[in-house]
Amino acid sequence: MPFPSPDFLRTRLSEPVTAITAYDYPTARICDEAGVQMILVGDSLGMVVAGNEDTTSVTLDHMVYHTEMVRRGVKNAVIVSDLPYATYDDPEMTLESSRRLIAAGADAVKLEGGLRQIPKLVRLREEGIAVCAHIGMLPQRVREEGGYRKKGKSDHEANTLITAAESLEQAGAFAIVLESVVADVATEITGKLSIPTIGIGSGTKCGGQIRVIHDVIGAYPWFVPPFATVYGDVAGVVRKSIESFIRDIHN
Ligand code: KIV
Repeated sequence: MPFPSPDFLRTRLSEPVTAITAYDYPTARICDEAGVQMILVGDSLGMVVAGNEDTTSVTLDHMVYHTEMVRRGVKNAVIVSDLPYATYDDPEMTLESSRRLIAAGADAVKLEGGLRQIPKLVRLREEGIAVCAHIGMLPQRVREEGGYRKKGKSDHEANTLITAAESLEQAGAFAIVLESVVADVATEITGKLSIPTIGIGSGTKCGGQIRVIHDVIGAYPWFVPPFATVYGDVAGVVRKSIESFIRDIHN
């Protein structure tokens, strides 16, 4: 079967793009049935599912396993799977890793980083694999950078982001995630591109928004990012249900 082309994927994403992470069958199915346009099998699963400090311990095997679960639950949404840490060090490694994610059911892969990722993106496009880029705060580099911080505060950083976004579009990315980018810079990037920018913690003027599902449904109460709007209380519902179960058994 031919891979979905970036142009075809873009016909399935209309602005404002609604995107959310999912890591398993029932969650992906609910998100899809609710009408979200894009589901990211994010390596954030290393934190919100596996309970690690950051995403760097996620492996390609983990991503393949979760992509297969998500694929079984999704009929309409575009499925994008993250290339995890250290699985895309050079173009051939990137291609090999991406092929595994596509075989597991992803429509496209996502990689973190700006200009240094261009040769890898080009290699994937040569083989017909659709790519979502990701710039701004890069969770896979949090250890090198010594923490999470907003990107684009200085002129130099803002210009680097703008140049990266333009080059990634030119190299064939079908969308770009902007994570924790100063809102004005995210707006400027969005205005310069013809592919959608999908923001998280980057203001309201991107071509769409992506969120980690646990933040949206209130399933990870121990840490909620400052930009997140919590729309539900899944943790509360689970807790109360389990307490009711325990009470029933005791009575
Ligand atoms: O892994 C992830 O969930 C992500 C989003 C935060 C964009 O990359």
